[in-house]
Amino acid sequence: MNKPDNITDNDWRLLNKKYKNITRIVHKIEKGYPVQYLIGDVSFYGYNIMVNKNVLIPRFETETLVEKTIKYLREKTLEDVDVLDIGTGSGCISIALKKELPSLKITAIDISSKAIKIAKKNAKKNNVKINFIHKNIYKYKPVNKYGLIISNPPYLKYNERVDRQVLFEPKKALYAKNNGLEYYEYIIKKASRYLCSKGIIAFEIGYDQGEYLKKYAKSYFPDAIITVEKDLSNKDRYLFIIND
Ligand SMILES: C[S@@+](CC[C@H](N)C(=O)[O-])C[C@H]1O[C@@H](n2cnc3c(N)ncnc32)[C@H](O)[C@@H]1O
Repeated sequence: MNKPDNITDNDWRLLNKKYKNITRIVHKIEKGYPVQYLIGDVSFYGYNIMVNKNVLIPRFETETLVEKTIKYLREKTLEDVDVLDIGTGSGCISIALKKELPSLKITAIDISSKAIKIAKKNAKKNNVKINFIHKNIYKYKPVNKYGLIISNPPYLKYNERVDRQVLFEPKKALYAKNNGLEYYEYIIKKASRYLCSKGIIAFEIGYDQGEYLKKYAKSYFPDAIITVEKDLSNKDRYLFIIND
């Protein structure tokens, strides 16, 4: 069978190696089923991360969230703080952070027990220790404060149009109430209980949420440095709240 146009040479080689019945696999891909789920892993920040249909496929944009966060942690000498990763999914953010800054003490939570299972496997595979907890953020009671709270929460509006492949990813990982804003508002509102007086909140956000969230964050953190930053396609994609 010939390689379909929308599959890279490398993915095609991996698929042929993994599956005997490649025709069936090509039909799945033609229906929009993500190639990454079929291959079973992706590279995230240079680390190998297993994925299946229970976790969001890590995105390039999220690698930039990690990169920018590491830069801020270094600048503010916060490389050994307690970290809370909310909605960890495959565990990709926590694993990349811990690999790059091994002194961080990371707790990562997710509402999906199946995601936590994958995240634990990924941590083991990458040889890092992370405290993964199966928990709904709305029920999570922190036992200590965090120097970094990082999250790429669900942020799509329920009526938002998405690519065909995205329809195969877990709904719980994608959509949020209140025009996609519910998790940001909850986390910012509760952050006085969660965040150290010197600490950072790092969010990945939707391209049209920056202006509103910056104002919202300012009302809870009037003295913090709050920035909305762009992704590689020049779209607003990150919100940082830096409490100094
Ligand atoms: C956009 S995905 C991000 C996954 C991963 N952090 C990443 O960047 O690829 C959001 C994650 O939040 C989790 N989630 C959704 N609602 C949650 C809640 N109420 N409490 C905790 N986690 C939640 C989902 O299960 C999903 O894994």
